[in-house]
Amino acid sequence: MASPLLKVEDLTVRFPSADPVNRLSFELGEGETLAIVGESGSGKSLTALALMQLLPPSARIAGGRVQFAGRDLIGLDAPEMRKLRGRDIAMIFQEPMTSLNPVLSVGRQITEMLTLHEGIRGSAARRRAVELLSLVRIPDPQRRVDDYPHQLSGGMRQRVMIAIAVACRPRLLIADEPTTALDVTIQAQVLDLLDSLRRELSMALVLITHDVGIVAQWADKVIVMYAGRKVEQALPDALFSTPLHPYTRGLLAASPRLKSDLHYRESRLIEIPGSSVSATGERGCPFRPRCAIARDSCAHFSPNLIDVGDGRLVACPYTFGPEVAHDAAVRL
Ligand SMILES: Nc1ncnc2c1ncn2[C@@H]1O[C@H](COP(=O)(O)OP(=O)(O)OP(=O)(O)O)[C@@H](O)[C@H]1O
Ligand SMILES: [Mg+2]
Repeated sequence: MASPLLKVEDLTVRFPSADPVNRLSFELGEGETLAIVGESGSGKSLTALALMQLLPPSARIAGGRVQFAGRDLIGLDAPEMRKLRGRDIAMIFQEPMTSLNPVLSVGRQITEMLTLHEGIRGSAARRRAVELLSLVRIPDPQRRVDDYPHQLSGGMRQRVMIAIAVACRPRLLIADEPTTALDVTIQAQVLDLLDSLRRELSMALVLITHDVGIVAQWADKVIVMYAGRKVEQALPDALFSTPLHPYTRGLLAASPRLKSDLHYRESRLIEIPGSSVSATGERGCPFRPRCAIARDSCAHFSPNLIDVGDGRLVACPYTFGPEVAHDAAVRL
């Protein structure tokens, strides 16, 4: 099998008082889409920022490896990482409306990227900017290229952000909640656009979202995070038909998009009581306080991920019958 484009092993992000990302591992092949889902505070954005090496100053990568196209990213020095960022790995940040510069035309913001990474200037850069606006399906790109962000709708601004992100044809695009601020119809259009661009530009996509309802249609595989850890990994169909982790079941049952679906009403085994996610790194399963099937032992062990085959992993030994629980290794 070809080596993956992105390989993350045991990534841990540390603040002085907590590990908001805890020993996270995953792989992503060329052109694949990985969705990372989890509720607010589960560590999704910090994972993305760690990959880009754009963590806030109080955070540091306390362990693990990140390999991109065979290169070790954590070992790279700042200038090398700057070169890679935007050109090979691009990111759409969680707050798109504040990520655009209000005093520069959208064309100028695209050409800056082209000048920085590819040395393209002047009319050639402008031509490319128009092409990119057309690539992200912005109507009348010749005219829109001179618009300022406030002249565009939220959906159009998000398309401009995507145009900037893909300007240098990255091999990997990380999209952090790319549609959260948009209404539902526009969300679907933006996700369709990302998916078409992924194919047209042969790039891999990491799609970060708290809305598990959107992953079925747009992801090749899904990671569910809770309190900085991966609690489940699955192909979308398997995740939706048989969610294994108690947290995943709660997440699916709570999804507004899936709520009306009879199937999910039936499988709504566990509501998620409580709301706080704490990633303090304390011993025991972090989901224990909210878990309907927790046992005393869950306070003492951090459950290891159990490989149940077909690329499926789950960090709960008690979601299966007793024979599986018996074999499940636990990590002290
Ligand atoms: N700069 C910071 N300083 C201290 N703690 C932080 C900082 N940024 C994030 N955190 C904490 O790290 C944890 C993970 O944050 P992160 O932003 O990755 O969550 P998220 O999954 O992206 O959530 P959301 O869905 O709200 O965007 C949270 O508990 C958050 O409070
Ligand atoms: Mg976030």
